[in-house]
Amino acid sequence: MIRIAIDGPGGAGKSSVARALALELGILYMDTGALYRNIGLYMLDNGINPKDKEAVTEALSGISLELKFENGRQIILLNGENRGDDIRTPAASMAASDVSAIPSVREFLLEIQRSTAKKNSVIMDGRDIGTVILPDAEIKIFLTASAEARARRRFEELAAKGISTTYETVYSEMVERDKNDSTRDIAPCVKAEDAILVDNSELSAEQTTKKIRDIVKKYQKKHTTTYMKLYKPLAPFFRFVMRLRPHNVENVKREGGLIICSNHISALDVLSIAATSPRQLTFIAKKELFSIPVLSSIIKMLGAVKIDRGGNDVGAIRTSVSAVQSGKAVAIFPQGHRYPGVKPETTPIKNGAAMMVYHAKCDVLPVYIQTKKARFMPFRKIDVIYGKPIPYESFGFTSGGRQEYERVGKMIFDAITELSDTSSLPDYVERENKR
Ligand code: DC
Repeated sequence: MIRIAIDGPGGAGKSSVARALALELGILYMDTGALYRNIGLYMLDNGINPKDKEAVTEALSGISLELKFENGRQIILLNGENRGDDIRTPAASMAASDVSAIPSVREFLLEIQRSTAKKNSVIMDGRDIGTVILPDAEIKIFLTASAEARARRRFEELAAKGISTTYETVYSEMVERDKNDSTRDIAPCVKAEDAILVDNSELSAEQTTKKIRDIVKKYQKKHTTTYMKLYKPLAPFFRFVMRLRPHNVENVKREGGLIICSNHISALDVLSIAATSPRQLTFIAKKELFSIPVLSSIIKMLGAVKIDRGGNDVGAIRTSVSAVQSGKAVAIFPQGHRYPGVKPETTPIKNGAAMMVYHAKCDVLPVYIQTKKARFMPFRKIDVIYGKPIPYESFGFTSGGRQEYERVGKMIFDAITELSDTSSLPDYVERENKR
């Protein structure tokens, strides 16, 4: 996960950079100013003075703000309605700035901002992201420019949207808003101590994006995990020598906590999944595997969690649950043991996987690993079939406990074995027929 905070005054071009980079990185872009703008607009709509602390605070109880992302686009529903560009008018801008100085408003918007960043990699732009909302953000940028440069850009932006105004008006409103935003008592617009300052008065939008992209790239290069460094060259290598055929890898969501459950037929299953999954995985491995030479180095390098007694080690379950809660994908074999050549339906299921799901409250991704005899290769072909994620809610957990774990363990395993019907996989059939 990566959280990028871009703060700075209005008109510095934060949103254009953030939008472009979020698209390139395949992560969410959250425009926090739009939240304040919706609150400001609500006050204007209801004849409430946005500067009136008491009245605004009281009015907040009448507001429901819903934040959604559709195809990467942020949508805010103000009492169920998307107000679109209504929030961009000069009046709404000023109202947003006014309400944003009121502590109850900032409090009201805190959780909605933090909860998005908890579950997803995100670029957030605003005024206090690096200082208050995400003080632990991996990258913090303070993007600014002279008031003249910013007013010119904002004026052109408004003109393009058909909102009629003059440069002078935009400039004076901008200066007033700057003063409002940077001198208020609560969460003023200031550079976080550890933020990187970028002044783009003399830079074009493209040059600004490039500058910030370079900062992100540098960070990513420095922080690539050993797993991902090795994944790049080794995953294709293992896919080739192990004759792995991944199916439906698009079912593996790239972000957020997840438990991947697979059947277990060989000690190489860990590699079959690791080399086909598009995201880094944390494996739960039997403690015995940690004493096998070579294999133990591989699984340690892959960041495996050691588990005792085939599935019910409390410490390991706790470690795995916190890994999932911090947004990682944990892979586990619910059978606990390997059953090579045995029909998976007939093997017992341990409770560990269901117990983890119950505590981590996350979705489960079923995976079916299947081998076929190959004719001329030293290895058998291995199909790794990724199923659709099973939402946490569909397990119907009430209070945990053995009976529920047994029931859910069976549900998970049924979902895994259902994937064994490879006839529904188009490329599989095609390749089989060619033989
Ligand atoms: O970024 P913007 O111009 O859309 O923001 C509108 C107003 O909202 C801005 O004047 C200050 C306020 N704001 C804030 O106080 N904190 C944020 N994180 C984002 C915006």
